[in-house]
Amino acid sequence: MKLRTMLFSLAALGFCATASAQAPIVIKFSHVVAADTPKGKASEFFKKRAEELTKGKVKVEVYANSALYKDKEELEALQLGAVQMLAPSLAKFGPLGVREFEAFDLPYIFDDYTELHRVTQGPVGAGILKKLEPKGIVGLAYWDNGFKSFSANTPIHTPADLKAKKLRIQSSKVLEEEIRSVGGLPQVMAFSEVYQALQTGVVDGTENPHSNMFTQKMHEVQKHMTVTDHGYLGYAVIANKKFWDGLPVDVRGQLEQAMKDSTVYANKIAQEENDKSLEAIKKSGKTQVYMPTKEEKLAFKKAMFPVHQKMEGRIGKDLIQSIYKETGFDPAKL
Ligand code: LMR
Repeated sequence: MKLRTMLFSLAALGFCATASAQAPIVIKFSHVVAADTPKGKASEFFKKRAEELTKGKVKVEVYANSALYKDKEELEALQLGAVQMLAPSLAKFGPLGVREFEAFDLPYIFDDYTELHRVTQGPVGAGILKKLEPKGIVGLAYWDNGFKSFSANTPIHTPADLKAKKLRIQSSKVLEEEIRSVGGLPQVMAFSEVYQALQTGVVDGTENPHSNMFTQKMHEVQKHMTVTDHGYLGYAVIANKKFWDGLPVDVRGQLEQAMKDSTVYANKIAQEENDKSLEAIKKSGKTQVYMPTKEEKLAFKKAMFPVHQKMEGRIGKDLIQSIYKETGFDPAKL
């Protein structure tokens, strides 16, 4: 009888040990945009790839649409370890004190994805990601979104059309200057609050790539949108450093592979998704989409370029110059 009890307890212990050895490592991955966006789709792709490659040792829970945290709270939650992974827009790192990221917000610093990738997929981009480490954050990759348009309830053909307009931006000193450079009034606000602010007239307009405008239905409460392509909005995929460094070596390697695969996917779909959203916005008939002429675009570029010089002190002149070197941008040719 005694022996049977002993054997039973040993078996139960064995069962517990196996069960706990098999309990998956859970990664909470939180973001603020809709599931049907470049970032939303890429995080789902990462989940699938990570779970496949680790053969179920890792379970990724993706929380879209600010379901867990709003913009500002996200990074705090990651630093505290309440979530393990995020993909905040690059603008979000300035307020964290990593000002190098603010370079990505400079108006018209990239003309297209090719120029952008020379930075995000090269040594300059890698160097910027490294700056996150003292904050307890590992920078894993850059994921694309796209180039921003302006929206408002009145037509926007020239920089003067934005004068005195209250325009929602992300919390960023560079974006504040960008709006001021065209005489607008920058209004910092969380992404999840923009639709309502536009609807109720708390702000007059905003900026974002088309995928964000469309999936948040901003076009339904804005009469005009102009494809100015005046700035880039994309993401850094990040993890809590203590969590990441503490992963078993084989699992971390598999997750790195999953991240590589998702980055290829993210950067492949970003432009397609934004193009599709632009078409859908046009088709909705709710907002009038204006494609500025080359000259009109140049007028925005000229009005906004002084922001680069104004922000040199914050971001670092050398860093800005090294980006120009990668992209071939020559301010003298403006
Ligand atoms: C915004 O706040 O406008 C963007 O950062 C949202 C996002 O993550 O794309």
